[in-house]
Amino acid sequence: MKKGYKKPNLESKYFDQLFESLPSLEGKTVVITGTTSGTGYTAAEACGKLGAKVVLLNRPSERAKTSYEKLKEATSNGSFHPIDCDLQSFASVRECISKINDLCPEGIDVLCNNAGVMALEDMPTGDGYDVQMQTNHLSHFLLTKLLWPSLEKTANEKGEARVVNHSSGARNSVKKLEPEFLEQKGGSLGGNGKSMFFGGGRWIRYGQTKLANAAFTAALHEKLQSKGSKIKAIVAHPGLAETDLQDTTVKEGGLGRWFTGQFMKLGQSQADGTMGILRGIADPSIESGTFIGPKGIKGPATTFKLEAKYDNPEIRKMIWDKSCDAIEEDFIVN
Ligand SMILES: NC(=O)c1ccc[n+]([C@@H]2O[C@H](COP(=O)([O-])OP(=O)(O)OC[C@H]3O[C@@H](n4cnc5c(N)ncnc54)[C@H](OP(=O)(O)O)[C@@H]3O)[C@@H](O)[C@H]2O)c1
Repeated sequence: MKKGYKKPNLESKYFDQLFESLPSLEGKTVVITGTTSGTGYTAAEACGKLGAKVVLLNRPSERAKTSYEKLKEATSNGSFHPIDCDLQSFASVRECISKINDLCPEGIDVLCNNAGVMALEDMPTGDGYDVQMQTNHLSHFLLTKLLWPSLEKTANEKGEARVVNHSSGARNSVKKLEPEFLEQKGGSLGGNGKSMFFGGGRWIRYGQTKLANAAFTAALHEKLQSKGSKIKAIVAHPGLAETDLQDTTVKEGGLGRWFTGQFMKLGQSQADGTMGILRGIADPSIESGTFIGPKGIKGPATTFKLEAKYDNPEIRKMIWDKSCDAIEEDFIVN
């Protein structure tokens, strides 16, 4: 593995003000994927400080252990519960469900599908799917399906539950969500080109996954609306945020060190990048079908509508059918 890059250490400008404006989350249970670093870590910390019971879904690693210890230290009143869940494996996702259900018999208020990888090599998972698509979308689709009864329980008892997906500006780097990226074709989906701006295969696959996050939200929102459900489907993007994402991509050969160091100076802090999912999790004013994030690559997390590029009947049906095929289960939204 290569060396990482030198982070610019950007200052937070907006996060504290947002945090102060949020209500208590006491009595709520929030499940978040990918909390070892980045936006997932900051969202978990914020939810803990606001009084939520926070379930941390991570693949087993030293990073998972140390971030859990760090969260407990940073938040003396926090209630954090780590559970193993490797999004590269459908079996691992299935295995974590009974542990979540045992831990949360009260139901789940929020599932935040945050974890992600970026511009990895053209590699299949053990299940045969593109490593980026399975980690970023397909496993989150399965997780959502399997936790649906817990979300419904909360929605019926308390009048609301939420699914918050994490997309990216990279959803706009590809024209259309293409079905083959959701098929069992991992390792033969465009090769290892690393050019972000000139069609490198690593980046096209990443763009497809982030478009999938938004399309999943649109498809879920449409189903929820037609059933009059009290569950909300929400999607956010963090702009360009200084997390571990770019560092990992440099180490995995998908970005150059020097370029990344310069490029990241244009971005925003990890905390500011977390504002979109945090509003999705905790801001009472957010409705189903809302997209939350900065207008460009940085700034306050504003709200806007889902976009026609993926919020249309063809793409909504395609992503649902292909994702159900991949997980080999129907996902019926009642
Ligand atoms: N940072 C940005 O500028 C930016 C821009 C647009 C969108 N996003 C999105 O923001 C989300 C969070 O990323 P981040 O920027 O906070 O990056 P990050 O610091 O690298 O965090 C990513 C998290 O995902 C976890 N993860 C990766 N593979 C996993 C797997 N197989 N199973 C379980 N967890 C896994 C990582 O855990 P490990 O420690 O196990 O690797 C880590 O906790 C991602 O969906 C990303 O696409 C970020």
